[in-house]
Amino acid sequence: MNTLRVGVIGSGYWGPNLIRNFAELPNAEVVAVADLNPERLNNLQARYPDLVLTADYRSLFALDLAAVVVATPPHTHYAITRDCLLHGLHVLVEKPLALNSLESQELIEIARVNGLVLMVGHTFEYNNAVLELRRLIDGGEIGDVYYIDAVRVNLGLFQPKLNAMWDLAPHDISILLYLIGHDVTSVSATGSACVFDSIHDIVYMNLTFGSGVTAHIRVSWLDPNKTRRITVVGSKKMVVYDDVETSEKIKIYDKGVERPPYTETFDDFQCSYRSGNVHIPQINFTEPLRQECQHFVDCIINRQVPRSNGVVGLNVVKILEAADWSLHNGSVQQMVQLLPVPEVGAALLQQPTQQAA
Ligand SMILES: NC(=O)c1ccc[n+]([C@@H]2O[C@H](COP(=O)([O-])OP(=O)(O)OC[C@H]3O[C@@H](n4cnc5c(N)ncnc54)[C@H](O)[C@@H]3O)[C@@H](O)[C@H]2O)c1
Repeated sequence: MNTLRVGVIGSGYWGPNLIRNFAELPNAEVVAVADLNPERLNNLQARYPDLVLTADYRSLFALDLAAVVVATPPHTHYAITRDCLLHGLHVLVEKPLALNSLESQELIEIARVNGLVLMVGHTFEYNNAVLELRRLIDGGEIGDVYYIDAVRVNLGLFQPKLNAMWDLAPHDISILLYLIGHDVTSVSATGSACVFDSIHDIVYMNLTFGSGVTAHIRVSWLDPNKTRRITVVGSKKMVVYDDVETSEKIKIYDKGVERPPYTETFDDFQCSYRSGNVHIPQINFTEPLRQECQHFVDCIINRQVPRSNGVVGLNVVKILEAADWSLHNGSVQQMVQLLPVPEVGAALLQQPTQQAA
């Protein structure tokens, strides 16, 4: 079996989870970690004595690595990812892919021209509860999806260089695109900057899909309770996915409302409400990040397009960009045009830039 030599850039809060997962994969080996903060590197020394530790991520280029993982703050993603791709490395970069769509597009193009895997850390696309949610929607059990409501709130952690939407909403947007499809047509957002001037700590987003489905996302760093909940309301059933729950993450409510066939008088206007059983499906828990890391390695070894590929990352950034504009311009609805996503698992081809004849 091939063992893939991996480097990790950024070992703050999230990086160590990536290091642990790659270190435990049978077909990968974490060779080196780069972090500007020497304390972060010292913390790793005891647990992983064989790691090459460095402050300068560019020294990873001399270590004959196949791939790197970028887990640095979002404003650094573009420059570091670009540099690594240009040095021939496959890249798994944390969310969001970059802070604007132009930079995201450039990263996709560099990866494409060089036949490299570019994958974004949309961890929830590797979460078995989200996979079950998609199975329920695709299988028709919920009926036609009327709307989706997503809530991701907590007290903190405040970020200095971006707002709560860029920090938290990439997860919900990537889940929504995974569930409903990449056909969001318009976006609007409103919010407040309560603690720091001009850094929105609460944001409410509205997304409209081409199919007519609407979705609402609420993200906040200013809430007394940690909530990570997605409610899908369909014509047949309603489903609540609560990621804070340890075992009963998905509950399917056999609840709904039937419209009267016609109404002539107010007395006719009697809807019939259905309130049946609640079903809690068994979901086998595998750490989503483990599945994500394994998928990255598999895609490199088999030269395949990953699930949360660069175009998926770009589409998430396009929605964030449009919502950010709306947030700063009176919540005006912004039209968006997402890109078609390449087929997951398709052969990864090296596609040189087209030369002019
Ligand atoms: N997928 C998820 O569920 C998830 C969860 C949390 C965070 N994240 C993402 O992970 C990334 C990191 O977040 P975090 O919370 O760990 O941030 P953090 O600030 O705790 O850690 C970032 C680390 O990167 C280091 N760093 C910064 N610039 C560097 C550079 N040029 N070279 C080397 N090291 C550098 C910092 O010293 C720091 O230790 C972000 O993109 C965030 O969105 C993803």
